[in-house]
Amino acid sequence: VVEHKIDSILELMTVKEKVGQMVQYNGSFDVTGAPSDIDSKTKLQKLKNGEVGSMLNVLTAEATREAQQVVMENSRLKIPLLFGYDVIHGYKTMFPVPLGESASWDLDAMELSASIAAKETAAAGVHWTFAPMIDVSRDARWGRIMEGAGEDPYLNAVIGVARIKGFQGSDLADVATIAACAKHFAGYGFAEAGRDYNTVNVGTSELQNAILMPFKAAAEAGVATFMNSFNEIDGVPSTASTYLQRDILKGVWDYKGFMVSDWGSIAELIPHGYAEDKMQAGELAVVAGSDMDMEGRVYEEALEPLVNENTIDEALLDDAVRRILRVKFHLGLFEDPYKYSDAQREQEVLLAEAHLEAARDIARKSIVLLKNENSVLPLSKALESITVIGPLADDKDSPLGNWRAQADKNSAVSVLEGIQNAVGKEVQINYAKGADLGMGERSFLMPLEINDTDTSGFAKAIEAAKKSEVVVMVLGEDAFQTGEGRSQTGIQLRGVQQELLDEVVKVNPNVVLVLMNGRPLDISKPNEEVSAIVETWFLGSQAGNAIADVLFGAYNPSGKLPISFPRNVGQEPLYYNQKNTGRPASDMVTYSGYQDSSREALFPFGFGLSYTTFEYGAISLSASEFSGEEKLEVTIELTNTGAVAGKETVQLYLRDLVASRTRPVKELRDFKQVSLKPGETKKVTFEISAKTLEFYTANNTWEAESGSFKVMLGSNSRDLKEASFQYKK
Ligand code: IFM
Repeated sequence: VVEHKIDSILELMTVKEKVGQMVQYNGSFDVTGAPSDIDSKTKLQKLKNGEVGSMLNVLTAEATREAQQVVMENSRLKIPLLFGYDVIHGYKTMFPVPLGESASWDLDAMELSASIAAKETAAAGVHWTFAPMIDVSRDARWGRIMEGAGEDPYLNAVIGVARIKGFQGSDLADVATIAACAKHFAGYGFAEAGRDYNTVNVGTSELQNAILMPFKAAAEAGVATFMNSFNEIDGVPSTASTYLQRDILKGVWDYKGFMVSDWGSIAELIPHGYAEDKMQAGELAVVAGSDMDMEGRVYEEALEPLVNENTIDEALLDDAVRRILRVKFHLGLFEDPYKYSDAQREQEVLLAEAHLEAARDIARKSIVLLKNENSVLPLSKALESITVIGPLADDKDSPLGNWRAQADKNSAVSVLEGIQNAVGKEVQINYAKGADLGMGERSFLMPLEINDTDTSGFAKAIEAAKKSEVVVMVLGEDAFQTGEGRSQTGIQLRGVQQELLDEVVKVNPNVVLVLMNGRPLDISKPNEEVSAIVETWFLGSQAGNAIADVLFGAYNPSGKLPISFPRNVGQEPLYYNQKNTGRPASDMVTYSGYQDSSREALFPFGFGLSYTTFEYGAISLSASEFSGEEKLEVTIELTNTGAVAGKETVQLYLRDLVASRTRPVKELRDFKQVSLKPGETKKVTFEISAKTLEFYTANNTWEAESGSFKVMLGSNSRDLKEASFQYKK
């Protein structure tokens, strides 16, 4: 039915109107700083003429209704506008930044947070989020690493699917759901040396098995849209890549949604040195399968003349418009273009109590305990006093992270507040900031100024540190150290934070380091200095309360790193699922590794401690070989050997020993979360099928190959039990 309706609309449309549907304008603020070369009068006229199909950054029920009215009351065909926005980790209620939330490994919780974000977004009249980002990213220098699920393709795939389900629900027309967008297609996370927007050079195996795997899963899960990426791969900018967009996505994967360009990326084909001018850029992008031009101002100029002079076939426009209209139909906009713009619902839904509760729960599930010497944690509420130090300790803004949508400034619960809320008047809290980290105004577009010199607050902090048995130090990154364009060459604690820590540990050996950051940091030195390390990322609106839940044991930490923490920046890009190479690591010089550093991570992928301990038994297999469509069961006994209840994430890794394309030394292929009481033992069983063994083989297709495999089960990517089996096709 929808397709018939689209056919009849297409029949009525002029070329100009078709092009209009492929144009997306920015509505309010200039989010990425591209020069705005169009005045609002012209924009308004174009809306009236039906020459704009979508807008981004138009927010609130009132503003979206107003803009929609312009189109519905003036344009010839009255095709509703589609409103998009970057809802990356919440709309008004902030959840942990995606990298942090991924550390929960809790797919239901992530689906829930996306569904709450969708509910708030939809209530503000917005139909579509530019999320999830499912770029596999392995380089801590890259600022956008905080927006995805880390270094592992499988984890990015399952988390991406959970988020898509959360945003889209089971019915896109429901006013509590919004369309999602799998981005950035493709390779954006592989930018050379972590420099944002930079060149990517990968071969077929890496492209398919590492980069595209999560996107394939997103397409299969029915994500409504895709966004292409700023980078080139092997000399072809993704925006102009027919291979990626037409051959793979819309061809082999048979994807029916539409592809929006990234901001201005069609026009950027010119500085890439791939197109001579806007006319050529438009031609290349539309031929390659970029359906909508986000603020590139190319399609609106180029496409009509290109059709009129027969350079491109009008059928290309029909295909793009069909895809865009399909999403508008599924959202229910043709039935009621104003259905999402409901001021009363907006008021009821934003920052609802239940949303804040869910935000606290997912935030504490995202915390990773990296070190806990002599069980210094959890802290007792019977302590006489606790000293809290650090530039981020009473920061109510940084926990909101970057890409914070409509969160109010300084609206997060700070760590200091969270601790105070937890202990009430029972424990004396001594607070000293010690030093500033980021200085001046925080802004999406402006560079962040870091305090590299001012140590005038040290003396007060040192005195405060002497006053208590335990010091909680909150160090890490300012919210605007990660995010778009926030690449760094260094990943140590910036500013004067390391010096501050050095001084504090001299006077108090019981330091609990609470880290707040959006990328893996080099914490080799702090790791030698402190008793405990709690990785808290940027946890969102309820950060401080969630952190206090973990510090005082109201919640037993269960998070696991979705990304390796290196010993030094020189190890980057560091990822556990590397290849063995022809010369695997050895003590000898002429083997793969470094002469000045271990090649191992400081804290490996999948790592995270608990206040209890877990013991893994031996692996048992239901058979030593299986074939065809049969299944193999892999079981392990897990025992809680500690004194408190806890939750463990049992991780399953595979190694395909000999294959038509070389395979990584281990690859995550499944995981299960298991809650155990003290002393309790549970059997944890996984099923392996041909699907689990699939990869993109030398036949250029996804399939399992016959041969020998290792299966590994354990608590993280380093500490694993293993067994072997054979598979026959
Ligand atoms: O969605 C983003 C994208 O990830 C980076 N460039 C701008 C887009 C829209 O804000």
